[in-house]
Amino acid sequence: MEQASPLRERAAALIHMLRAEGKRTPSLAMIKSEREIAGIREAGRVNSLVLDAVAAMIGEGVSTAEIDNVVMRETKRLGGKPTCLGFQGFPRAVCTSVNEVICHGIPDERVILRKGDIVNVDCTTTYGGYVGDASRMFIIGQADAAARRLVRVTEECLALALAGLGPMMPLGDIGYRIARHAHENGYTVVREIGGHGVGLSMHEEPFVSHVTAKEGQGMLLLPGMVFTIEPMVNEGSRFFTCDKRDGWTVRTADGRRSAQVEHMLLITEGGYEILSR
Ligand code: MF3
Ligand code: CO
Ligand code: CO
Repeated sequence: MEQASPLRERAAALIHMLRAEGKRTPSLAMIKSEREIAGIREAGRVNSLVLDAVAAMIGEGVSTAEIDNVVMRETKRLGGKPTCLGFQGFPRAVCTSVNEVICHGIPDERVILRKGDIVNVDCTTTYGGYVGDASRMFIIGQADAAARRLVRVTEECLALALAGLGPMMPLGDIGYRIARHAHENGYTVVREIGGHGVGLSMHEEPFVSHVTAKEGQGMLLLPGMVFTIEPMVNEGSRFFTCDKRDGWTVRTADGRRSAQVEHMLLITEGGYEILSR
């Protein structure tokens, strides 16, 4: 039997009303219950503790395989499971994406972090049956001004997406704000890979675009939705290749650098809550 959930009951009434007005809404399946939200919040907290452990050890001379070992060890110590390990055959516990790697980089003992590298560590944890997903950028030692600007603008893109985030905001406004800021700074944004609903499994509906041409597009956000925002911002071309040999590593088509940061958000009655800190 499903638990009674006042939050989901309110959402069902709202969805009904908004649809009668011709508005686009999430499906009721995208609305989490109070109990699910409590579990997802815990998973997000544990996932952030794993990223904290990475932050404490990452640096010049560290291999991405060592990052993977720390994620594996810390996740187990906290009572969780690395969601990525074995996901569609992914061979490691975490994604480590260095410089021109956009996302889904596979940790490798031969990839040693060097001064000036920029690296995204994208960590996903299953804890108590729920899923937390977040990623951070790390700059290794002194990087050139262009690398630091790319990382800063990417973080600003995420912050701008959060400003004003809340119920009744159109989902497309997230991508509108991100793309506008990235483009104003001379960068491009990856289109085909985006954010996603999350919590009961790693990838749920809806798809969250980081590139939307106009304001006011897409479904209206409602309380109880949980999803990620994870813009991938490129120095050059927005196009990419997927490594034929390993089947995972996504690289920029022109070899220039890419940065990404990811938060997991809950839409609340009054705005939003970041579930990834
Ligand atoms: N954490 C990634 C995301 O933000 C997905 C990881 S793909 C995997 O959606 F294969 F590594 F699991
Ligand atoms: Co992620
Ligand atoms: Co994600």
